[in-house]
Amino acid sequence: MAQQIPKVLVTEPIPEKNLAYLREHSIVKVGNKGEFQDELKLIDAIPDYDALLCMLSTPVTKKVLVAAQKLKIVANFAVGYNNIDVESAKDLGIKVANTPDVLTEACGDFAMGLLMAVSRKFNAAEQYLREGNFSGWEPLGFLGMELRGKTLGIIGMGRIGQAFAQRARAFGMNIAYHNRSKVSPETEKSLGAAYVSTIEELVINSDVLSLNCPLTDQTHHLVDKTLFKLMPSHSILINISRGPVVDEVALADALHRKTIAGAGIDVFENEPAVHPDLLTAPNCILLPHIASATFETREAIGMLASNAIVSVLKGESDSNIPNLI
Ligand code: GLV
Repeated sequence: MAQQIPKVLVTEPIPEKNLAYLREHSIVKVGNKGEFQDELKLIDAIPDYDALLCMLSTPVTKKVLVAAQKLKIVANFAVGYNNIDVESAKDLGIKVANTPDVLTEACGDFAMGLLMAVSRKFNAAEQYLREGNFSGWEPLGFLGMELRGKTLGIIGMGRIGQAFAQRARAFGMNIAYHNRSKVSPETEKSLGAAYVSTIEELVINSDVLSLNCPLTDQTHHLVDKTLFKLMPSHSILINISRGPVVDEVALADALHRKTIAGAGIDVFENEPAVHPDLLTAPNCILLPHIASATFETREAIGMLASNAIVSVLKGESDSNIPNLI
């Protein structure tokens, strides 16, 4: 009997180069934007496919995985994989891959840029100019917080946390961090980073608090009303990790009541919805989850995810696939 060509479902359009590579090895179906964010739609489609290349917004739940009849691998077009029920996948013998490393530098750049934009009020100042209010240089116009000498507190000192720390260091910031485990003494030394054993102590002593941890049961609403109360009133929150790590209502409240000075937020609790109180909050920059959005990085993400799929479809051994979870 002739060998069947495997079928791959790619839930949203991804770079053409990635699709071309997948097409060399399989029949590829590409979903429309948002189409497979609908769990029922995915449950309906999945029995046909040998591999799934999904987005961080694709709900790869137990129901989806159970409905799959010949699925061998789920490859996430993202490093964070809280959208995938990894335990159920493992129980069902379905492999799961993500995309570490390739987006680290883009995210480090982005976090630094976001911090600059918030601390120096880029958005508000630009809006002021566009609205025709610029009537000349002002000694007291749009004063912001200087970064040199300030402390950047990082929760989650993985690759992206470290990439941000490296950049912040070049801006003269002191680095403090909290992580499940300490990074190596060499890494601490090269980043000039000091480990802080409790999140509370880190928050109290940080001028900028950055969230770079994964979303898990333990980190859900990690930054809540109680932690906001501990943040100094001049401090800034940067979140490029996952929205639910922050209690969005508490964040909006802290911004409206000015108990913190500002926030740079790239991720939201219920994406694509943004809490209405955040939309009206002062001194915050809200962006549509774009930390890794460079041409180079998105193509590299797609390549890493596609490589894992092709390797699994070819029956290669797991040791050839470095990004399996
Ligand atoms: C983006 O948020 C990612 O996890 O890659």
